[in-house]
Amino acid sequence: SGAAQVLVASNRGPVSYQVRDDGSLHAKRGGGGLVSGLSAIGPDAGALWVCSALGDGDREAVRRGVGEDGVRMLDIPAEIHSDAYNGIANSVLWFVHHMLYQTPLEPVFDAEFRRRWASYETYNRAFAEALAAEAAEGAAVLVQDYHLVLVPGMLRELRPDLRIGHFSHTPWAPPEYFRMLPDDIAEAVLRGMLGADRLGFLTRRWADAFTACCEAFVGGTGDTRIGVHGLGADADFLRRRAHEADVEERMTALRAEIGEGRRAIVRVDRTELSKNIVRGLLAYRQLLADRPEWRERVVHVAFAYPSRQDLAVYRDYTAEVQRLAAQINDEYGTADWTPVVLHVKDDFARSLAAYRLADVALVNPIRDGMNLVAKEVPVISDEGCALVLSREAGAHEELGEDAVTVNPYDIVGTADALHRALTLSPAERADRTKRLAAAATALPPAQWFLDQLTALTGQDGG
Ligand code: G6P
Repeated sequence: SGAAQVLVASNRGPVSYQVRDDGSLHAKRGGGGLVSGLSAIGPDAGALWVCSALGDGDREAVRRGVGEDGVRMLDIPAEIHSDAYNGIANSVLWFVHHMLYQTPLEPVFDAEFRRRWASYETYNRAFAEALAAEAAEGAAVLVQDYHLVLVPGMLRELRPDLRIGHFSHTPWAPPEYFRMLPDDIAEAVLRGMLGADRLGFLTRRWADAFTACCEAFVGGTGDTRIGVHGLGADADFLRRRAHEADVEERMTALRAEIGEGRRAIVRVDRTELSKNIVRGLLAYRQLLADRPEWRERVVHVAFAYPSRQDLAVYRDYTAEVQRLAAQINDEYGTADWTPVVLHVKDDFARSLAAYRLADVALVNPIRDGMNLVAKEVPVISDEGCALVLSREAGAHEELGEDAVTVNPYDIVGTADALHRALTLSPAERADRTKRLAAAATALPPAQWFLDQLTALTGQDGG
């Protein structure tokens, strides 16, 4: 056996590399909820983070032996990785758990799907083998997310001595939806997960859905324990980062874009189908149509950062977001008022700037495991920010009382919610923001990670 006592496995790791024109490698922090949560581990914790090389830069880094302490990138062949990541994880499992299929035409589980599934198995096996090689006797292994659902079962066979955990950062589909998967695949997913000693979910709702699937398809959850660990915002990091000079600069620029005396409705997402950006824009248009008093007095600031652009549906979705934003600007814009300010280029400092000056944050996903934006905004808001929050986001279980709740499909309802959020009194807004921030930071990422580890290694018996 290897030497690591604690191992983490995920598709996306904490850094990714790009080859610069001069041939040097440039390291960049990974994005998304999983990396934000796990980054708290830091190199000091002595854990080994096994992740996948995602692009040419990462592969080059592996070849040159460049890397960070405590991180091991697996150079899985690009075609296998693409079939597994694009073809299965993001096109099938993500769609199932977020209930994104347009069912008259999708999904189609044909021979091509089976071929990709075989790549998904290969990709999972590469992780299981690397973990088996690196783990010390009796080590704890924390496997992350829908990319790696087969790893617990595979690793259990290779190394029965290990403590194996798995954590889902997504929702879990209810059995009526999950059963769309071919029976053998549905079973493989569940049995793969049940290879773990302990499974973690972000909310009770997702954990219960998983249990219901197991009862329906594989006769129950067996000896595997199931726990709920909500992930909170990292208050210390955010408060420090949000007051650095680059964020202040972007606040100045953003204020100029918004215009003197106008309110800002802010949203920040990956250009992700589940985030429901298009219906958010439709609701904003409805607000301008129904309540002309807001025209010229409000700006919708939408940051939609490119994600999974290898997939045509994601590219099309991004294009639709851009088209609709331009249409609203054509319809309602005036000489000195741009109703929608849309940026699609990733800029973390600018996101933090927008969080600080937002009057309203719009978080309206169709379904979301947790949603950290809903938790981050109240933590660093300068003057208090009203939160319009989908009841289908995991974060709603913790933040619902002080948010303005929306059904993400209801455009008119969302437009009304935006109006209500815009008209909360400053005192009410500040009060709610304070309570939201307290709830949002109750489970800092470091604690979230430690809780899982403790629960897995059995020190708390649960
Ligand atoms: C979600 C998933 C994460 C993933 C993130 C970003 O939060 O649960 O596992 O890292 O999206 O997606 P990406 O495909 O860019 O890694």
